[in-house]
Amino acid sequence: MTASGKVRLSPDGQRLTLDLDTGPREFAALWLRERTPDAETLDPRTGQRLIEAAELPLDLAVEHAELDGETLALCFSDGQAARFPLAELRAEDRPRETIAPGRTLWDAGLSEPPRADFATALADDTALLGMLEGLHRYGFVLVSGVPIDEDGMQALIDRIGPLRRTNWGGIADVKSVADAYDLTMTQRGLEPHTDNPYRDPIPGYIWLHCLTNAADGGDNTLVDGYRAAQVLAERGPAAFDCLTRVTPGFRYRDETTWLESEGPLIELDGQGRVIRVRYSNRTERVAALPTEELARYYAARRAFYELITSDELTVHLKLDPGQMLIMDNYRLLHGRRAYELAGGVRHLRQGYVDRDSTASRRLVLRQRLAETGEVA
Ligand code: OGA
Ligand code: ZN
Repeated sequence: MTASGKVRLSPDGQRLTLDLDTGPREFAALWLRERTPDAETLDPRTGQRLIEAAELPLDLAVEHAELDGETLALCFSDGQAARFPLAELRAEDRPRETIAPGRTLWDAGLSEPPRADFATALADDTALLGMLEGLHRYGFVLVSGVPIDEDGMQALIDRIGPLRRTNWGGIADVKSVADAYDLTMTQRGLEPHTDNPYRDPIPGYIWLHCLTNAADGGDNTLVDGYRAAQVLAERGPAAFDCLTRVTPGFRYRDETTWLESEGPLIELDGQGRVIRVRYSNRTERVAALPTEELARYYAARRAFYELITSDELTVHLKLDPGQMLIMDNYRLLHGRRAYELAGGVRHLRQGYVDRDSTASRRLVLRQRLAETGEVA
């Protein structure tokens, strides 16, 4: 085993330590070997692996390691030689984050909501991309100039992805009716919630379109669930941890529908970053867990509830006719204030669009417009 200066090898060669600006960082020999950047190991066009990684010897070692400027030169015990750009290894050394990059977290201090204009986004790809990027960054966008027809938002949905049909239909009414079978269709206020956590998959984006609003009340409330989770992690780490572990069930039932699913109020990805929040007082049914576990859960849920209903985190806005909110239902908690029908009819329309098609549209548009020089 030979190595020098800022690179050191363990006696068996199975671990390599590199001194980076952030301090020493250890890499496993096998991890390095399975991603050696040469044409026999990885396809140069797609980066797809050409060797079978699971067949590499488990005791594979680095026999020689040397820094050559910005490159790490390695020889492995299976005879393979490799030159790694240091930048690639530094990229693995990012500090632990609580939220994936590319998102701007916000609270009540948000000065201006991200906005888009319906007709412009419909006609122009750059404007459509701007709308999708605002939606990705902030988790919502306020769209103006939507035709005041029952299915006025459909044309813009068609630019992005299929409308998800559910038992509520395609684009469905949100207005108070005499014989309400869901709180949606009453004049009651709605606590901050995410929609339909009893569904699998849970609807990705909520499109909420205002045809008429009540004169008195009916304002919408928005809370950034990622920010709420982050605040909870800072102020109550035990509560945060509990809400990432306990997976309550959610259920909706009527004569023709029986929907059940489960998942934590705060869901983490494999790297420990918050990727989804759930909150639905109406439909949550936690199992009869051991009572101490339940006591911890109830206290943690209370702490989260206090954050998502706090003035500190809540943005208020009242939709005018012809305005629409698009909201990330994996990130935002939304609600509404109670309203009086005496003050006028309140009629909103709502539809759901999937996350994957929305993300795909944004990523492909970004790449295409960057190639033609239309965006940076
Ligand atoms: C709902 C809902 C919003 C509104 O019904 O789930 O969030 O503004 N409605 O009525
Ligand atoms: Zn809702």
